[in-house]
Order: sequence, then structure tokens, then C-alpha cells
Amino acid sequence: MVVQRTFVMIKPDGVKKGLIGEIIRRFENKGLAIVALKMLKLSREKAEELYAIHKGKHFFEDLINFVTSGPVVAMVLEGDEAVNVVRTMIGPTDGRKAPPGTIRGDFALSVQENIIHAADSIEAAIREMKVIFKDEDFVC
Ligand code: RTP
Ligand code: MG
Repeated sequence: MVVQRTFVMIKPDGVKKGLIGEIIRRFENKGLAIVALKMLKLSREKAEELYAIHKGKHFFEDLINFVTSGPVVAMVLEGDEAVNVVRTMIGPTDGRKAPPGTIRGDFALSVQENIIHAADSIEAAIREMKVIFKDEDFVC
């Protein structure tokens, strides 16, 4: 067993659509533990830090405008191989191509407004959770 922690964020479209409970339910049903959880409105600065890897890409400005357009729900999930397990559960980036049964496949029809973000590696997870959470935000 390889217990990992990963960083997940329900994007403004997911919050607006009333999907917070549905998404958390899927992760809990899967057996992942929530070890930190926060609802917040991202500042431009935090959003740019979170998505720093995409700076300079054609979609960067639109992405920052989108993720700062309303509240988000950020969380850290823990479990066996959590990073890959959660990436599989959210599905591919483009909601139009994401298979049914994945979160994006079930709730998104757009490449940008795709309901949820999840870290794509252990290193990214560690970096991203530090952008949003302080040590005291973790329950364990
Ligand atoms: P995320 O980081 O949000 O979990 O998404 P991802 O790994 O599946 O995709 P990534 O390539 O990291 O892209 C980050 C987010 O930028 C928006 N995007 N827009 N208009 C476009 O072509 C485009 N491409 C990406 C999406 O919101 C994507 O999730
Ligand atoms: Mg990504």
C-alpha cells in the first residue's frame, strides 16, 4: 500500500452547479479520507501561483479569470495511490471527451469549465496544497 495525499479543488462552475456534495460523496464512497477542506474565493495571485505551470499558454488568462470568478472548494484527500486514483476519477481535461462515470464525463461539456482540478503528481500535490492550506488546516 502506498498512502498518498493529493490536492483537489472544485472549480467555480462545480460550486455554482451545486455539485459540492456529489463530488465529496464520490471521494468518500471510494474510501479516500478528507484531511483538509476549505471553501474560498481565490485571489488572482493565488490562482496564478496554483496554475504557474501554464503561464504563457494561450488559455492562461481565461483560466485565471474563470477560477477567480466565484467560490471554490479546496481539499486534501488521503488514501492508497490517491494521486492517480483521483485523476482517474475526475477524467480527462475535456468534458466533451471524458468518459461517463468520471466527474468531468458526467458533469462537464467544456475543456475550460470542467468542474474540478486535481494534482497530477505527488510533487504537484505538495506544492499546490501549500498554496491554499497552512499546517494547522490539516486534521492529521
Ligand atoms: P487541472 O489542472 O485543472 O486538474 O486540469 P488538467 O490537468 O486536466 O488540465 P491542464 O492541462 O492542467 O489544464 C488546466 C486547466 O486549464 C483549462 N484549460 N483550458 N481552453 C483550453 O484549451 C484549455 N486547456 C486547459 C482547463 O480548466 C484545465 O482543467
Ligand atoms: Mg493540470
